[in-house]
Amino acid sequence: MKKLELKIAFTEFDNENELSTPELELLQKARKACDLAYAPYSDFHVGAALLLENGVIVTGNNQENAAFPSGLCAERVAIYYAGAQYPNTAVKTIAITCKSKTFHVGEPLSPCGGCRQAMSEYEIRQKTNIRVILMGETGKIRVVESIADLLPFMFKAEELKKA
Ligand code: THU
Repeated sequence: MKKLELKIAFTEFDNENELSTPELELLQKARKACDLAYAPYSDFHVGAALLLENGVIVTGNNQENAAFPSGLCAERVAIYYAGAQYPNTAVKTIAITCKSKTFHVGEPLSPCGGCRQAMSEYEIRQKTNIRVILMGETGKIRVVESIADLLPFMFKAEELKKA
């Protein structure tokens, strides 16, 4: 028996002015997408902006449904759109933010497990890391250099070939 440890590295910025101009612009695009979210049931609005290697920025936001499980998170709306429109173009950076009308989100958004799994598939497929910038309505910004850092022991396609 042995006990092992897994560590992840992340960076925190006190506020958005510490970001580079292109990354601040990406975050602002995520905010605009967040403003357009359709989230009448949760009132938790999320926006994601993806910078592709060709310079194109793709955005998405959460789309809810009266049949709750039929809704989709902002990250998956955005990355599936990118996958559909630019299947062979790598994603470099994803900025994700959120807000609500009924409460204040002062912590960086923490993407749900399903979105981490979905985004990891794209990172593995493109063979280059995707940087993730996370922010709430206000407050600090958390940055990870890779989706893999957000999802240790992720389920990978190679698992399907082991049977
Ligand atoms: N949501 C996202 O869009 N992204 C996340 O990472 C977490 C949750 C959405 C789903 C749902 O519309 C609402 O936020 C509340 O869970």
